[in-house]
Amino acid sequence: MNQQQKNIKWHGTRVTKDMKKNLHGHKSFVLWFTGLSGSGKSTIASEVEHILFQRGLSTVLLDGDNVRHGLNRDLMFSEEDRKENIRRLGEVAKLFVDNGVIVLVAAISPIEEDRQAVRKMLGKDEFIEIYVDCSLNVCENRDPKGLYKKVRNGLISNFTGISNPYEIPRNSEIVLSTEMKNIEECTNDVIEYLTSNHYIY
Ligand code: ADX
Repeated sequence: MNQQQKNIKWHGTRVTKDMKKNLHGHKSFVLWFTGLSGSGKSTIASEVEHILFQRGLSTVLLDGDNVRHGLNRDLMFSEEDRKENIRRLGEVAKLFVDNGVIVLVAAISPIEEDRQAVRKMLGKDEFIEIYVDCSLNVCENRDPKGLYKKVRNGLISNFTGISNPYEIPRNSEIVLSTEMKNIEECTNDVIEYLTSNHYIY
């Protein structure tokens, strides 16, 4: 902490996190979807959000691609920029959790240390990591955005899984294989996890 930071004090608020949770009427936590580009993170996150929304729960979906159009538009895909991308997504997610909202984050988040850093920002039962498991080969065949083709044609560098690493999570709360199951089954697996672990009722 430098001298200037020492002069910044935390300001308590009258309306507490518990009061916010009571207002929303449910627990607040983060569902963090990690996986290769094309693995199905955004699609499943969006389906899960839809079900939670239909049940009257307060949600926000932070999609890596979308947040990179605004808050993170200054960041590219170097190791340093990805770290900052994940840190900011984590901080924004925490702000929402502290205000009683269920947050869904869909971001490649390829580095274990960066994912762990977000886990540490939050409470013990506030971070649920979901590994969307799909082989590079299948993601590349799907190529929903045509990016893998561009990578193979030398038009994109630093691409996750090819010229940049993806560290497979070892301690995810949920693993979804989008090669073995369809979107509906994966979505149901998430809802089932939330229900059986008393995150939602
Ligand atoms: S992360 O690695 O920092 O977590 P994030 O999820 O925000 O990545 O953004 C990844 C998205 O950016 C991909 O879904 C893809 O559409 C796009 N993209 C563009 N260039 C790259 C790249 N070099 N590596 C990975 N994704 C890229």
